[in-house]
Amino acid sequence: MIKEGDIIKLILVDDKNKQYLKKVRKGIIFEDHKRNRLTFEDVINRDYGSVVKNFIILKPTTEDFILYYLKRKTQIIYPKDSAYLLLKLGINSNSKVLEISTGSGAMSIVLLKCLYPNGFLVSIDKNMDFILNAKKNISEFCNLENINYANNLGLINFDVLSKNIFNLFKIKFDSCIVDIPEIDDVITKVYELLNSNSTIGIILPTANQVIKAIEVLKSSGFCDIEIQEILLRKYKANYNRFRPFDIMTAHTAYILTAKKILKY
Ligand SMILES: C[S@@+](CC[C@H](N)C(=O)[O-])C[C@H]1O[C@@H](n2cnc3c(N)ncnc32)[C@H](O)[C@@H]1O
Repeated sequence: MIKEGDIIKLILVDDKNKQYLKKVRKGIIFEDHKRNRLTFEDVINRDYGSVVKNFIILKPTTEDFILYYLKRKTQIIYPKDSAYLLLKLGINSNSKVLEISTGSGAMSIVLLKCLYPNGFLVSIDKNMDFILNAKKNISEFCNLENINYANNLGLINFDVLSKNIFNLFKIKFDSCIVDIPEIDDVITKVYELLNSNSTIGIILPTANQVIKAIEVLKSSGFCDIEIQEILLRKYKANYNRFRPFDIMTAHTAYILTAKKILKY
């Protein structure tokens, strides 16, 4: 049953490619690009899947939330990449994960969902404004799913290049995800913080960074290095004109994954 404050996904009955994620607020009227209007009061107490005026009302998925609701103050890791990283790095509901960096919290949300209920995420960012924004995004996501994922999260405001923050940690991590431009020093420090049988995933937008990162990973004690890029092509759900959409997000980032070798 939909209540005030819930985030809903609206799809137009006659144009299912258009969708909107909105928060239900009494007294607010939503109007789309074709001037179709919906009074949110008419949505309260309805079930998801209901059709109200010209709109189908659905519950947003994690992917919907990240792509169409989460407030972006930085580039984000896209769901196609974050979901793959979980599998590739072997993250599960008991894992301890270090994330450098928090950004807008898009990757954190996917991690927290996978780590629940016994795992733990420590996420670091040098920008306090971004951390506060990510905190808000995570809190909205917890409300959407009605689960307090934030109990399994520690957010730290720190510049990982400025000092060796990693000396402060008492625990070791099973996986680390690195999404900052300058990775050289960080990778060597992260190595010390990882358990045996641990994994690292690095997100890099340019090929130049990838070439450099491969050497850094090798010299820092990592093996099984793989470089991958995920291209997601969507198709029109149209019986007579089944074909890809004309426009796609062609490049998000390269994904590097590797495993720790123990130094004897
Ligand atoms: C691309 S964003 C991360 C996006 C995040 N993975 C997500 O999915 O929302 C890059 C972030 O790295 C942070 N950053 C850059 N250099 C850093 C450093 N030396 N220490 C900590 N954070 C850093 C920036 O503040 C920014 O928030």
